[in-house]
Amino acid sequence: MFIPVEKSNDKKENYRLLLDTLPYYLNETDPWYTTLSNAASIVEYFLDDVNWVGFYLSEKDALYLGPFQGLAACTKITIGNGVVGTSAKNEATLIVKDVNQFAGHITCDSNSKSEIVVPFMKGHTLYGVLDIDSPIESRFDDTDKESLERVMAIVVDKL
Ligand code: SME
Repeated sequence: MFIPVEKSNDKKENYRLLLDTLPYYLNETDPWYTTLSNAASIVEYFLDDVNWVGFYLSEKDALYLGPFQGLAACTKITIGNGVVGTSAKNEATLIVKDVNQFAGHITCDSNSKSEIVVPFMKGHTLYGVLDIDSPIESRFDDTDKESLERVMAIVVDKL
Protein backbone atom coordinates (compact mmCIF):
# COMPACT_ATOMS: atom_id res chain seq x y z
CA MET A 1 0.00 0.00 0.00
CA PHE A 2 1.35 3.41 -0.90
CA ILE A 3 0.70 6.79 0.71
CA PRO A 4 -1.70 8.56 0.39
CA VAL A 5 -3.80 5.80 1.96
CA GLU A 6 -7.34 6.59 3.06
CA LYS A 7 -7.26 6.64 6.85
CA SER A 8 -10.02 5.31 9.07
CA ASN A 9 -11.63 6.89 12.14
CA ASP A 10 -10.55 3.85 14.11
CA LYS A 11 -7.16 4.03 15.79
CA LYS A 12 -6.48 0.26 15.66
CA GLU A 13 -7.40 0.16 11.98
CA ASN A 14 -4.99 3.03 11.30
CA TYR A 15 -2.21 1.10 13.04
CA ARG A 16 -3.06 -1.91 10.86
CA LEU A 17 -2.76 0.32 7.78
CA LEU A 18 0.51 1.77 9.10
CA LEU A 19 2.00 -1.69 9.70
CA ASP A 20 0.94 -2.79 6.19
CA THR A 21 2.34 0.33 4.52
CA LEU A 22 5.65 0.71 6.37
CA PRO A 23 7.57 -2.17 4.72
CA TYR A 24 7.02 -0.69 1.24
CA TYR A 25 9.08 2.36 2.24
CA LEU A 26 11.98 0.68 4.04
CA ASN A 27 14.96 -1.14 2.50
CA GLU A 28 17.71 -2.90 4.40
CA THR A 29 20.24 -1.65 1.81
CA ASP A 30 19.49 1.99 2.68
CA PRO A 31 21.49 3.92 5.30
CA TRP A 32 19.93 4.43 8.76
CA TYR A 33 19.01 8.06 8.10
CA THR A 34 16.94 7.08 5.05
CA THR A 35 15.07 4.37 6.95
CA LEU A 36 14.39 6.56 9.99
CA SER A 37 13.31 9.54 7.83
CA ASN A 38 10.61 7.53 6.10
CA ALA A 39 9.60 5.86 9.38
CA ALA A 40 9.08 9.28 11.05
CA SER A 41 7.00 10.50 8.13
CA ILE A 42 4.84 7.37 7.96
CA VAL A 43 4.15 7.30 11.70
CA GLU A 44 3.21 11.00 11.59
CA TYR A 45 0.88 10.32 8.64
CA PHE A 46 -1.11 7.57 10.35
CA LEU A 47 -1.39 9.01 13.88
CA ASP A 48 -4.00 11.64 14.74
CA ASP A 49 -3.43 14.47 17.19
CA VAL A 50 0.37 14.49 17.25
CA ASN A 51 2.61 17.54 16.89
CA TRP A 52 6.05 15.89 16.91
CA VAL A 53 7.30 12.48 15.75
CA GLY A 54 10.98 11.64 15.58
CA PHE A 55 14.04 9.81 16.73
CA TYR A 56 16.80 10.39 19.26
CA LEU A 57 19.82 8.21 18.63
CA SER A 58 22.20 6.81 21.21
CA GLU A 59 25.87 7.82 21.26
CA LYS A 60 28.02 7.31 24.38
CA ASP A 61 25.98 8.63 27.35
CA ALA A 62 23.58 10.79 25.37
CA LEU A 63 20.88 10.74 22.73
CA TYR A 64 21.11 13.03 19.71
CA LEU A 65 18.30 14.35 17.53
CA GLY A 66 17.68 12.23 14.45
CA PRO A 67 15.14 12.36 11.60
CA PHE A 68 11.82 13.90 12.68
CA GLN A 69 8.60 15.64 11.70
CA GLY A 70 7.67 18.77 13.65
CA LEU A 71 9.24 21.89 15.07
CA ALA A 72 13.00 22.16 15.60
CA ALA A 73 13.89 20.34 18.84
CA CYS A 74 16.57 19.90 21.51
CA THR A 75 19.66 18.37 19.93
CA LYS A 76 21.14 16.40 22.85
CA ILE A 77 19.48 14.63 25.79
CA THR A 78 21.61 12.91 28.42
CA ILE A 79 20.64 9.33 29.32
CA GLY A 80 18.40 9.58 32.42
CA ASN A 81 17.14 13.10 31.62
CA GLY A 82 13.63 14.04 30.52
CA VAL A 83 11.07 11.59 29.22
CA VAL A 84 13.38 10.53 26.41
CA GLY A 85 16.43 9.92 28.61
CA THR A 86 14.38 8.14 31.30
CA SER A 87 12.84 5.74 28.79
CA ALA A 88 16.28 5.13 27.25
CA LYS A 89 17.86 4.46 30.66
CA ASN A 90 15.14 1.94 31.57
CA GLU A 91 15.01 0.52 28.03
CA ALA A 92 11.21 0.48 28.39
CA THR A 93 8.38 2.32 26.69
CA LEU A 94 7.23 5.32 28.70
CA ILE A 95 3.80 6.98 28.42
CA VAL A 96 3.41 10.38 30.07
CA LYS A 97 -0.24 11.45 30.24
CA ASP A 98 0.57 15.02 31.33
CA VAL A 99 4.07 16.27 30.62
CA ASN A 100 3.63 19.09 33.17
CA GLN A 101 3.41 16.46 35.92
CA PHE A 102 6.63 14.70 34.85
CA ALA A 103 9.58 15.98 36.87
CA GLY A 104 12.40 16.86 34.51
CA HIS A 105 10.31 16.95 31.35
CA ILE A 106 12.24 18.80 28.62
CA THR A 107 10.05 21.26 26.73
CA CYS A 108 10.85 21.49 23.04
CA ASP A 109 7.40 22.48 21.74
CA SER A 110 5.17 24.22 24.29
CA ASN A 111 2.10 22.75 22.53
CA SER A 112 3.03 19.26 23.75
CA LYS A 113 0.78 17.96 26.54
CA SER A 114 1.41 14.20 26.48
CA GLU A 115 4.19 12.00 25.18
CA ILE A 116 5.19 8.40 24.39
CA VAL A 117 8.78 7.23 24.05
CA VAL A 118 9.62 3.80 22.60
CA PRO A 119 13.25 2.69 22.94
CA PHE A 120 14.68 0.28 20.39
CA MET A 121 17.69 -2.01 20.47
CA LYS A 122 19.95 -3.40 17.80
CA GLY A 123 21.19 -6.66 19.28
CA HIS A 124 21.78 -5.96 22.97
CA THR A 125 22.66 -2.29 22.46
CA LEU A 126 20.32 0.69 22.72
CA TYR A 127 20.11 2.20 19.21
CA GLY A 128 17.74 5.06 20.08
CA VAL A 129 14.16 5.98 20.84
CA LEU A 130 11.04 6.90 18.92
CA ASP A 131 9.52 9.99 20.56
CA ILE A 132 5.97 11.23 19.87
CA ASP A 133 4.31 14.32 21.36
CA SER A 134 0.63 15.25 21.36
CA PRO A 135 -1.11 18.57 22.05
CA ILE A 136 -3.81 16.56 23.90
CA GLU A 137 -3.45 15.22 27.46
CA SER A 138 -3.66 11.41 27.85
CA ARG A 139 -3.39 10.90 24.08
CA PHE A 140 -1.38 7.66 24.35
CA ASP A 141 -2.51 4.30 25.75
CA ASP A 142 -1.58 0.61 25.61
CA THR A 143 -2.78 0.31 21.99
CA ASP A 144 -0.20 2.95 21.02
CA LYS A 145 2.48 1.22 23.10
CA GLU A 146 1.89 -2.23 21.58
CA SER A 147 1.47 -0.93 18.03
CA LEU A 148 4.48 1.38 18.11
CA GLU A 149 6.66 -1.41 19.54
CA ARG A 150 5.58 -3.49 16.52
CA VAL A 151 6.40 -0.57 14.23
CA MET A 152 9.89 -0.34 15.72
CA ALA A 153 10.45 -4.10 15.35
CA ILE A 154 9.88 -3.67 11.60
CA VAL A 155 12.14 -0.59 11.47
CA VAL A 156 14.98 -2.21 13.45
CA ASP A 157 14.99 -5.11 11.04
CA LYS A 158 15.97 -2.68 8.26
CA LEU A 159 18.69 -0.80 10.16
N1 SME B 1 9.99 16.12 25.83
C1 SME B 1 11.18 15.34 25.63
C2 SME B 1 12.21 16.07 24.83
C3 SME B 1 12.14 15.81 23.37
S1 SME B 1 10.89 16.63 22.62
O1 SME B 1 9.59 16.23 23.14
C4 SME B 1 10.96 16.46 20.97
C5 SME B 1 11.74 14.91 26.99
O2 SME B 1 11.27 15.34 28.05
O3 SME B 1 12.69 14.13 26.99
